Amino acid sequence: MTNEKPVTPDGIMQLGLGFWGSKTLLSAIELGVFSELSGGPLTFEELGKKLKLHQRGARDFLDALVALGMLERERETYRNTPETDHFLVRGKLGYIGGMLEMANERLYPFWGSLTEALQTGLPQNEMKTGGAGLFESVYGDPARLRLFLGAMTGLSMGASKAIAEKFPWQDYKTVVDVGGAQGGLLVQLCLAHPHLHGVNFDLPVVGPIFEEYVAANGLSDRLAFSPGSFFDDRLPSADVITMGHILHDWDLEQKRMLLDKAFSALPAGGALIVFEALIDDERRQNAFGLLMSLNMLVETPGGFDYTGQDCGQWMRDAGFSSVSVTHLVGPDSMVVGIK
Ligand SMILES: C[S@@+](CC[C@H](N)C(=O)[O-])C[C@H]1O[C@@H](n2cnc3c(N)ncnc32)[C@H](O)[C@@H]1O
Repeated sequence: MTNEKPVTPDGIMQLGLGFWGSKTLLSAIELGVFSELSGGPLTFEELGKKLKLHQRGARDFLDALVALGMLERERETYRNTPETDHFLVRGKLGYIGGMLEMANERLYPFWGSLTEALQTGLPQNEMKTGGAGLFESVYGDPARLRLFLGAMTGLSMGASKAIAEKFPWQDYKTVVDVGGAQGGLLVQLCLAHPHLHGVNFDLPVVGPIFEEYVAANGLSDRLAFSPGSFFDDRLPSADVITMGHILHDWDLEQKRMLLDKAFSALPAGGALIVFEALIDDERRQNAFGLLMSLNMLVETPGGFDYTGQDCGQWMRDAGFSSVSVTHLVGPDSMVVGIK
C-alpha cells in the first residue's frame, strides 16, 4: 500500500473553469440580486420577475449562487447570506461591490486579452485602440468615477481597518493620504483615533465624492480635501503620509519620484506608510499580489506590483532610515519608513 495522493485533474479544472463561478457572481451584482433581496426573502417567481430573468437560465443561475455560497434557499424562497447582505447590497455603508462592478465592466473583458498583453507588454484597456489611460477614461465619466472611487473603498476596507489598528497613531496628529480616493482609509483612521486630522490629496474631480462620503461618516470637521496632481505638485506636509495602491499604478521611475516627494513633505521623525497586496519576497505565495501585478500589465503602460523588500530598498534610496514591513490582512501588507 502506498500513501501517495492519487493524481487527479481536479485542481486544474477548478482553476481553469474558475471564471464560470466568478462571472456568475459578477452578473448577480450587475443584475442587483443581493440588493433586491435586502428587504427580505423572495420566492423564485418574485425574484425572477424583479430581475427580469428569462425563464431558461433563471433557476440554474439562482441555484448556482446557492451552491457557490452566495445565497441561501429554503424550498422556493431565496435570501442573502449574512456576508452578501452586508457587503453586496447597493446603498449600504458596507457595500464593497463597486470593485466587483468594475471587474465586471472593465477587467473581465480586458483580461480576455491577457495572452496578447503577455506577448506585447502593452495594456489591453481603452489604450489599445488609442483611447485614454485608466484614470482619464474612468474620470471623464461621472458615473464611472463614482463606481471606481467606491470600488477603492471596498478594495481597501480590510487593510484600512488593520492600519488603524497596527500603526502607533497615538504618536502622530496629522495624516495626508496621497490618492485617497473616496476617503476609505482616512475615515477608518479618524473613526478609530479621535485625535487625528487628515487630508486627502487627490485629483480635483475626486473632491465632491470624497466630501460626500466624509460627511456621511460625520467627519467633515476633521477631514479635508487638497486638490492636485502628484506629477505636477508637491505633496502637502503632515506627520504621516499614506499611499495605498498608488505605487503599483506606475513604472519604477515614477514610483521613485513619488517616494522622493513623500520624503520631502515629511518632517524629521515623520512616517510614510505604503500599502498594497505586496508580493512575498520569495515571489511564490501571494497569488493575489502577483495577479494584481498582471492586472497592472493589462490596465497601465508601466505599472507593476512588488515585494516588501523591493519597496524597502526604494524607500532607503529615497532617504528613509528605518523601514519595516507588517502584514495587514489577507493579501495586504504595509511598508513603513521613518524619516
Ligand atoms: C488605485 S486608486 C487607490 C485609492 C486608495 N488609495 C486605495 O488604496 O483604495 C489610485 C488613486 O490615485 C489617484 N490619482 C491618480 N493620479 C493621480 C495624480 N496624478 N495625482 C493625485 N492622485 C492621483 C486616483 O484618483 C485614485 O484615487
